[in-house]
Amino acid sequence: MSTNNSKKKINKAEGPLTVFTPGIGAVSTTFMAGVELIRKGLREPVGSLTQMSAIRLGKRTEKRNPLIKDFVPLAPLENLKFAGWDIFGGTAYEAAKKSSVLSGNDLELVKPFLKGIEVMPAVFEQNYVKRLRPKVIKKAKTKMEFAEQLRDDIRATMKRHGSKRGVMAWCGSTEVYIEESDVHGSLRNFEKGLAKNDPRIAPSMVYAYAALKEGIPFANGAPNLTVDMPAMHELAAKEGLPIAGKDFKTGQTLLKTVLAPMLKARMLGLNGWFSANILGNQDGEVLDEPGSFKTKEVSKLSVLEHILQPHLYPRLYSDYYHKVRINYYPPRGDDKESWDNIDIFGWLGYPMQIKVNFLCRDSILAAPVLLDLVLFLDFAHRAGLSGIQEWLSFYFKSPMCAPDLYPEHDLFIQLTKLKNYLRYLMGEELITHLGVEYYSDTSGRRPTHRRSPNK
Ligand SMILES: NC(=O)c1ccc[n+]([C@@H]2O[C@H](COP(=O)([O-])OP(=O)(O)OC[C@H]3O[C@@H](n4cnc5c(N)ncnc54)[C@H](O)[C@@H]3O)[C@@H](O)[C@H]2O)c1
Repeated sequence: MSTNNSKKKINKAEGPLTVFTPGIGAVSTTFMAGVELIRKGLREPVGSLTQMSAIRLGKRTEKRNPLIKDFVPLAPLENLKFAGWDIFGGTAYEAAKKSSVLSGNDLELVKPFLKGIEVMPAVFEQNYVKRLRPKVIKKAKTKMEFAEQLRDDIRATMKRHGSKRGVMAWCGSTEVYIEESDVHGSLRNFEKGLAKNDPRIAPSMVYAYAALKEGIPFANGAPNLTVDMPAMHELAAKEGLPIAGKDFKTGQTLLKTVLAPMLKARMLGLNGWFSANILGNQDGEVLDEPGSFKTKEVSKLSVLEHILQPHLYPRLYSDYYHKVRINYYPPRGDDKESWDNIDIFGWLGYPMQIKVNFLCRDSILAAPVLLDLVLFLDFAHRAGLSGIQEWLSFYFKSPMCAPDLYPEHDLFIQLTKLKNYLRYLMGEELITHLGVEYYSDTSGRRPTHRRSPNK
């Protein structure tokens, strides 16, 4: 057995863990209902690494392949409690019904559970989500007061749940595009901005601030700025809390971050990549508004540039046309359809085409991502990690990273990084896939093999 003999100290996952979601819509209710159906033994956690994936440890000959959840001390699903905020009031049951992702039959099986999750009144600003009309929202004079109200909600909920630990994940609508400015540049500026109602502070930032002040890690499932700014990095470091983001990587971008590395791996060139989507859920309606679309577009467009590295391969990737379109089409509901037309070129510059047509279900892909993020962030917190958790890039369209680095988008590099990070924290040897090296000499003798440190 091979270990690196330096297992990190990790606090036990004792007692309930409250999952807070600002936004009780399609993704969050599909996640909550799913966790309950799985806990009841009625459904399988398909799509979740924390629940289904094995992890190889040591050399291949050791044949040690435990499930991640048996290797890493994660909170058990039985211990998860749920709470959240939205602008429509009611309970998670009504929200799940309105989202129409799960069948009526599945919802009936967990109706009392979902009805027990009350939706708390939101901190909402119309300018940031223009397409929705709120019904139940908080009132306050300043954004700092809003943050205080959220902190009260968090404390009261955790007391009711008997929880000592929480995780918050933004599952609210995509807010309009804003760029980082001085108010986001330091914690001091940000807190001043909260007190002065600075319009550049979005509601998602108020939630993130409240969570971090209450000692709760934060993940951002949407492409909003939210915690991707120096003020929040500073707060996370100060409070010793992990943060992650942004924008769940689910449908089309998931495929893009598999196909683009393949082109680069084989040194095939790219002339153009046209990505079209139709979706008819509320997320699609919000994204139909140009300000919110711009936030999503920036998130989706960044992927190719980072994977293909045109500065290293100018003859293959310096001049491609990349377009992303999202069209709101109500008849499809949550069942998104995407088309990708990819114009590539090969040997001697001869052109070829790839067509991809993915008929997916948005929230069915997002729910396991949310579950893994919640469990891994809680684990990271107990392991004493703080700041941006780059090893969780695997789950994001637009992964946050340190200011002097570029984000890693390639899905399989992200997966390798995630698994190696788990091995590292648990004191296991990192896997580099160097393998056994076979070689023979010209004498015709049988090949001998040389052992590399890790195979
Ligand atoms: N489903 C996916 O595959 C996927 C992938 C990547 C990102 N996302 C993002 O995840 C988020 C959630 O997606 P969804 O499909 O559940 O959308 P949804 O519209 O069903 O749910 C979002 C909810 O957030 C609420 N909301 C808006 N502003 C709020 C605020 N300030 N406070 C509290 N609640 C607020 C809305 O009322 C709505 O109920 C969206 O931003 C979406 O872009 C989804």
